[in-house]
Amino acid sequence: MKCRVCFAPIHPFMTFGKMPIANAFLEPADIRVEYFYELAPAVCEKCGMFQLMEQPDPKRMFHDNYAFYTGTSKGMDKHFSDWAHSLPVKGKSVVEIGCNDGTFLKHLERNGAITIGVEPSANVAKVAKQNGHIINRFFNGIVVEELRAQIVDADYILAANVVCHIPNINDFAGNVARLLADDGKFIFEEPYLNDMLRKTAFDQIYDEHVFMFNASTVQYAFGQHGLKLIDCEPQPTHGGSMRYTLAHKGHPSLRAAATIESEIESSRGGPYAAFYARCENKRDKLHQVFNQIQPWKTVAGYGATSKSTTVLNYCGLGIQHVNYICDTTPGKQGKLSPGAHIPIRPHSDFVKSYPDYAILFAWNHAKEIMAKEKFPGKWITYVPEVGVS
Ligand code: TMP
Ligand code: ZN
Repeated sequence: MKCRVCFAPIHPFMTFGKMPIANAFLEPADIRVEYFYELAPAVCEKCGMFQLMEQPDPKRMFHDNYAFYTGTSKGMDKHFSDWAHSLPVKGKSVVEIGCNDGTFLKHLERNGAITIGVEPSANVAKVAKQNGHIINRFFNGIVVEELRAQIVDADYILAANVVCHIPNINDFAGNVARLLADDGKFIFEEPYLNDMLRKTAFDQIYDEHVFMFNASTVQYAFGQHGLKLIDCEPQPTHGGSMRYTLAHKGHPSLRAAATIESEIESSRGGPYAAFYARCENKRDKLHQVFNQIQPWKTVAGYGATSKSTTVLNYCGLGIQHVNYICDTTPGKQGKLSPGAHIPIRPHSDFVKSYPDYAILFAWNHAKEIMAKEKFPGKWITYVPEVGVS
């Protein structure tokens, strides 16, 4: 296997074992044909890019029934509203790659931007179409030519939690560079590798995250296509993200340079063997927590998140540990969780009859959840540390 960025040979530094697709919630009849792949991350010794060895075909993940709607999270809606307001987009042409249900586009339009969204998943794209101009396709060279025929160049190309999903990053970077105006900006944000390492948030590793970026690897990958990293800014979303700004010309800002410096410092001595050991340790500690729960007590999962698929399957947790998972997304309710086959129930079931314990799978939304829930039982958490409180 070769690095997707620089084509040097890569080798996995650990494996999470056989894994189903994180968002492939299923009906009981589908269990027989459930798809599994080997979830094993690698770090390229030449360019430093953190990436998955094997990734399922993107068509298996971003299809006509993509499970996540951005607009269902109040926190994310506010995040995109704040971001839209921080950008001088009035009268500018803005392309959002992977616009999901159009939440961000809506805020950009309210701010006077002329927007086009590109979104491959038909169900979320349909919702986005109510808000504006959407191309329901994967972002590729043909789409770029269509866009250039419509708007010539983009003043802004924006993406959130999308770029790390795209395996052919060289193709992608070339397409972005072609579409971006000479003085345009490409701004994207993704879960931040160094936050994941620091918090041992191994559940960020799943099929959709083919890469985990940091400023150094973004600089390398996009630099190959003439784009310069000019800024980066930490974000609290998804348990710790980074927003990167790239342009055709320019130099890293002071904070971007400082971030790169800190990443070089923290990569000394090879942090990945220690990360692997901390993952195994977390798995053992979670088992100790479940072993101490009396068998007659009830345990619910809170949020049927993509991340929970890695936790449940890597830790070997099933319905005997977590009796059901509550989630607000109608499309997930009534189905079974991927691999572990735990039933997904509406959030109203959680409130109707509180369980004794709830394991917080949606830990990245903890602030929003703690503010709205009056749960009388105990929370089980595992980021940054395993705990019961
Ligand atoms: P994600 O972390 O994989 O993006 O998905 C978050 C999931 O958590 C999504 O299915 C909605 C669910 N959720 C709840 O059920 N209740 C909540 O309060 C929040 C914030 C999310
Ligand atoms: Zn490489």
